[in-house]
Amino acid sequence: MQKLALGLYNVPRDQVKVVIDAGLGAGLRHFDFASFYDNEAECGAALRSWLSAGHSRSELFVTTKVWTTDLGDPAAAVRSAEISIAELGLGAVDLVMVHWPMPGKHVSAYLALEELVRSGKARALGISNYSPADYEELMKSASIAPIVNTFENNPLLYRKEWCDFFQDRGVVVQAYKPLQRGGPVLSCEPVQAISERCGRSPAQVCLRWNLEKGNAVVFKSLTPSRIQENVDVFDFSLSAEEVAALDALTTEEVRAEAQSHWEQRRSGTDAPWGPGLRPEKRTLEA
Ligand SMILES: NC(=O)c1ccc[n+]([C@@H]2O[C@H](COP(=O)([O-])OP(=O)(O)OC[C@H]3O[C@@H](n4cnc5c(N)ncnc54)[C@H](OP(=O)(O)O)[C@@H]3O)[C@@H](O)[C@H]2O)c1
Repeated sequence: MQKLALGLYNVPRDQVKVVIDAGLGAGLRHFDFASFYDNEAECGAALRSWLSAGHSRSELFVTTKVWTTDLGDPAAAVRSAEISIAELGLGAVDLVMVHWPMPGKHVSAYLALEELVRSGKARALGISNYSPADYEELMKSASIAPIVNTFENNPLLYRKEWCDFFQDRGVVVQAYKPLQRGGPVLSCEPVQAISERCGRSPAQVCLRWNLEKGNAVVFKSLTPSRIQENVDVFDFSLSAEEVAALDALTTEEVRAEAQSHWEQRRSGTDAPWGPGLRPEKRTLEA
């Protein structure tokens, strides 16, 4: 699994191919998809087109996720993952994640998804937005341990306790929203100062901050030049003092906001297709 992944959330269907081609051209082979992103058929088509030019499926690492509207019963969770796998059309997916740990539902959904690994439809399972307590609850009954937990982590929302907890247990931490969706983290003074010192962009500084912690990172961009910029983060480093300066930016207020957003999301949110189960099939639009 490459440390850096390209995420396809908020990528309109008609821009998926340009974005994925830019990622592949920049050397990315790790892609983060989800039923919730409502563009998996286009994502699969873009990757299949690349494979048809002589590349091997084993070069790619592809993730999908099961949304909260499909966690209500275990069969619905499996059905959702199977639709994603079929729409992607890449054979077995490398990773299936439970997108949010809905209380009372996520464990039975995860246990049902284990069957996908046993039957060879998925190579591994992961978790997304799991707190340490959710993970401990899951591990009381899971037979197949999750290899990754992905959650928001950037210098303005440093979840140190979660990073340390999962790293200590050998679960890869994958930081999402590493650029805070292009938010204030890119313009805040400490990031700007480090950016000037090392001659790298604020986005590169933020990505590097997560990498310095040993985290994997998933970012999104619709802009090919930014995708290349975001991949060019392996030839410089931040000093311990710079990492510590960025570590100190997270305020209690931001933590409280993040906690409230997290509680709300894990209680369930309608998907783009509405409050019910994922539609059986969505065909590619012309
Ligand atoms: N598991 C989960 O619950 C979950 C939740 C959220 C996200 N994710 C995953 O994580 C991925 C990334 O997170 P995200 O999309 O929320 O946020 P993000 O990667 O932090 O930010 C994306 C935004 O940053 C801008 N950007 C990208 N590169 C830039 C650069 N070099 N300089 C300036 N701005 C730049 C992009 O603009 P342009 O597109 O205009 O270039 C876009 O608006 C998602 O696509 C998804 O795969 C997972």
